[in-house]
Amino acid sequence: MTLKSSFLWGGATASYQCEGAWNEGGRIESEWDRYLHENNFESGDIASDFYHHYKEDIRMMAEGGQNAFRFSLAWPRIMDEKGNRNQEGIDFYHNVIHECRACGIEPFVTLYHWDLPAYLADNGGWTNRNTCDAFEKYAELCFREFGSEIKWWTTFNEPKWTIVSGYLVGNYPPAEKNAQHAVEAGYHMMLAHAMAVKKFREMNVPGSIGIVHSYAPVDGVDDSVSTQKAMRFADNFMNNWVLDVAAKGVFPEDFLEALTVKDIDLSFMNKADVQLISKQKVDFLGLNYYARALVKPYSSGETTLTVNNSGSKGKGTTVTLIKNWFEQVRDPESKYTEWDTEIYPEGLYRGLIRANERYHLPIFITENGIGMYEDVTKGEVNDQYRISFMQDHINAMMNASDEGVDVCGYFAWSSFDLYSWKNGCEKRYGLVAIDFKDPNLKRVPKKSFYWFKEIAKSNGTKIERRH
Ligand code: NOJ
Repeated sequence: MTLKSSFLWGGATASYQCEGAWNEGGRIESEWDRYLHENNFESGDIASDFYHHYKEDIRMMAEGGQNAFRFSLAWPRIMDEKGNRNQEGIDFYHNVIHECRACGIEPFVTLYHWDLPAYLADNGGWTNRNTCDAFEKYAELCFREFGSEIKWWTTFNEPKWTIVSGYLVGNYPPAEKNAQHAVEAGYHMMLAHAMAVKKFREMNVPGSIGIVHSYAPVDGVDDSVSTQKAMRFADNFMNNWVLDVAAKGVFPEDFLEALTVKDIDLSFMNKADVQLISKQKVDFLGLNYYARALVKPYSSGETTLTVNNSGSKGKGTTVTLIKNWFEQVRDPESKYTEWDTEIYPEGLYRGLIRANERYHLPIFITENGIGMYEDVTKGEVNDQYRISFMQDHINAMMNASDEGVDVCGYFAWSSFDLYSWKNGCEKRYGLVAIDFKDPNLKRVPKKSFYWFKEIAKSNGTKIERRH
């Protein structure tokens, strides 16, 4: 079967990771600026300098046969500390959208891809319910300003990683290791999401609204009852607290219970807010797929959550073990990237089937790609590994589509090389190479760019189909 003719083929980016111009055009400081500057970590001050190169980049997408572009709006560019509009920032996004339209590219917008204004972080960030009100105002401004120009909206990108990395692993701002704060912040993000969806409906914004989740379909090491219990814990921790809430309006009961057993105080969940959440359901799901999670029952040891930000292959520095719940394990049969990410296209197929059975909603693959070290100084990057990664994942997605999953689009992460958070600029995902050492940040399409062009132009029919 073929994909629908309206299928979106594009690349994805995020404001902080590509724009640069961190202190230009009236943009205020974000939590990430503060955290990276204060700790002297590599920052996205310049990144891909999309702020000044957007025309060139969007034209290149069109040349690459793409018909869509997923990007995020930067809250610190759009509103100042008093909640007033920043016209220069707003104009920038009008220009980006205009350029997309001029090039036949459908803009696919994320409201929040991690760049929380620093003044809100100072007041407790997502642990403070006031941040939800501030987000609602910001969303309202965006809907009013861009509502007539955008068909596809998403509220948050990957609440899971904001929470896990920011409040449990401690490698993202606010760099805490505090389970109580993690749960409060996660809950408030989902509340803010629901408040924005409510506003969207009340304002009758034309178009559809969803959320973007970092989807880790859970597999077990065997069929035993204890493994199935571990899988349920893992699924609640990794997926359900975002997807069940966005799609069905409910937090998984057994997850709340399990949190209480861990002495988490849930008294911040007030009735009126829980009711508001229960009424706001998304129109579609955006799923970012990088890998599944293979789990076994918890055996021993304290909760350990670490993430490989250094790219030293095979060191096993990524660990997810939650005391009394589950342990994530490596599959000895699988290949892993330098950053310990399993390469497992079948997980996308199975994950899509499960998400469809559970939620019955249209689905976009809002991110998929492979991060590599690459030498971009010697002409076209011959990234055959990326081509075969994408070939296998798009094939998996099409297999799911053949079985009735309503897949509406595929976005490669990323449109071009960008700043990869704590991994810096050398972890490259782009279809287009950027030489970050070149003063002009020269862009050169990689081999995968041309391959993806043929796939997009053929609406997927050029994918080698395997079952
Ligand atoms: C998901 C996030 O949305 C994005 O910001 C990140 O860079 C990619 N994954 C790659 O890790």
